[in-house]
Amino acid sequence: MAPRFPSAWLDELRQRADIVQIISGYVTLKRNGHRYWGLCPFHGEKTASFSVDPERQLYYCFGCKAGGSVIQFIMDIERLDFQEAVRFLADQLHMPLPQLEEDPDYQRRRDQRDRLLAANREAAQFFHSTLFTEAGKPMLDYFKRRGLTDNVIRKFGLGASPAGWDTLTRHLQGKGYSLEELRLCGLTVVKAAEPATESSPAKPQRAYDMFRNRAIFPIIDQYGNVLAFGGRILGDGQPKYLNTSDTPVFNKRLGVYAANLLRKERHLERVVLVEGYMDVVSLTQFGVPGVCATLGTALTAEQARLLKRFAPKVYLGYDGDSAGQNAILRGLDILQAEGIPARVLDFPDKLDPDEFIRRDGIEGFNSLPAISPETYRMRRLKEQHDLSTQEGRTEYAKACAAILKNLEPVELENHLQELMVQTGFTRDVLLAQIGATLPKAVPQAPPKRESFKRSAALNGEDVRAEELLISLIGTGRLPGDIANEEDFTDPLLKNLYVDLTRGRSAASLVEEQQDENLRARVSHLLLTPPSENTDQLIRMAQDCLNSMRRRRVEERIQTIMRSINTLTGNDKIAAMTEVQALTAKLNRFKSAR
Ligand code: GTP
Ligand code: MN
Repeated sequence: MAPRFPSAWLDELRQRADIVQIISGYVTLKRNGHRYWGLCPFHGEKTASFSVDPERQLYYCFGCKAGGSVIQFIMDIERLDFQEAVRFLADQLHMPLPQLEEDPDYQRRRDQRDRLLAANREAAQFFHSTLFTEAGKPMLDYFKRRGLTDNVIRKFGLGASPAGWDTLTRHLQGKGYSLEELRLCGLTVVKAAEPATESSPAKPQRAYDMFRNRAIFPIIDQYGNVLAFGGRILGDGQPKYLNTSDTPVFNKRLGVYAANLLRKERHLERVVLVEGYMDVVSLTQFGVPGVCATLGTALTAEQARLLKRFAPKVYLGYDGDSAGQNAILRGLDILQAEGIPARVLDFPDKLDPDEFIRRDGIEGFNSLPAISPETYRMRRLKEQHDLSTQEGRTEYAKACAAILKNLEPVELENHLQELMVQTGFTRDVLLAQIGATLPKAVPQAPPKRESFKRSAALNGEDVRAEELLISLIGTGRLPGDIANEEDFTDPLLKNLYVDLTRGRSAASLVEEQQDENLRARVSHLLLTPPSENTDQLIRMAQDCLNSMRRRRVEERIQTIMRSINTLTGNDKIAAMTEVQALTAKLNRFKSAR
């Protein structure tokens, strides 16, 4: 169980943290009506579509649909998690932190985590300072041979692990870390003692450094924690890179190399994702912004979502070799599944990003074509088909059609032209083929993670009426008994209704939504009062309820009437009685208008 701030204390924090004032620290806001408007800090824009509602203490961007409470804003703009954002705000407001509601098990894990992170930090400092001593000379020479400046060496905290067996282990033991802690960090390898056997004498427990005689790349997360290390061998030899395996503080599937530097870059248009440590360091030295790398694994969904926090787009700059090229196809799939726009950087002559930028410089890098995923996939397919035969062209056209089916018409157009030339099929035939691959219901966007799904049977108009009703009730100015729980069929709206009538604040309800799509929907709903006038709000709510209730009665009547001829005896009588009652109810609605 994660530690929790008491909700009463959080309410107080939200009340004291005036959202307009806090956001004004980041965005210039102008008042218009009862809301404030400014340029959205989360996406580039020239006209203000970012709004802040002082009454509900919520913000919402009509452009990129970012939205939430003041805590959410701080999480996104300062790239903090919830706990950190709360601490950040409490600090600004000079509010003392409350006693956290924690369980002892969590406390123990967190203490251990703090110890391991501290040991890693000591290790990183040790490696870095060793780099500038006699023991680190071979590594410093190595970095210099690879063209790195002192500046970039410091920026990435690069280091040297000495050639001895246990220099670091002894250093950290001297600082009070136990062998067990160092083993858990992946810094020390501990070999158990062995009793004597016929063929060999007894051996005591031995401990030696994991990284020996290597050039060190510390892996630091977006919060500045040193999580792990990569160590490169100085010459040829195996393994070329030794990386910390997963530990209690490090999971290589979750993070990216250089996240600490990404976090500091504002208004990144794109993240450049590469494969190797050296590629990150080298591109950064040449002035490419927003570079990071996966840690020797294929891109994972978690990493893709992390990248989305830093920039709206991801450029894949993988190696030009065949392993790199296959990793691109998988990476594109992952990014597409997460709804992140992607481009592929095509390095010529099978060069990796480091080799390329050394050869062609930043100008060369900036003029590299950024290829769309479809173009890239089509290019790969073209290599796999023999376009000189009719059969090859047909198979190629079919495979391309499957790739192109999700494109918007204008994007599709460019590829269609190319495909016509390549395959000789007419436009109509290709369009028909693309249409044939479309699933019956075209998903408009890649599937989003939603913790709840709207029931398919729900009538769109009904949901819209329910949404309007929630946004009316969210003003807090309607009589408490105007609606009831049964008026809501959409589960999310039903829950919101219950919480709002229990007096929960709009901001706390928005914060509670883990999924960002849901958060956007809820903040939008709770932030849009359709009118300023309370009488008018009440009238709108009554209209809304009347039409919802009436529509449901009408639907029920229709359902019964459709099956009435299949009924006999008492069933039929019961059905007719119900229809009569429903019709009377319907007439009451009509006369009430
Ligand atoms: P340089 O030869 O130093 O330029 O390496 P590179 O940056 O070109 O990296 P390369 O393409 O060889 O490898 C990319 C990434 O894969 C590295 O940064 C490591 O994370 C990982 N990697 C490479 N070699 C090994 C290895 O031998 N073992 C492990 N575990 N990972 C490796
Ligand atoms: Mn390389």
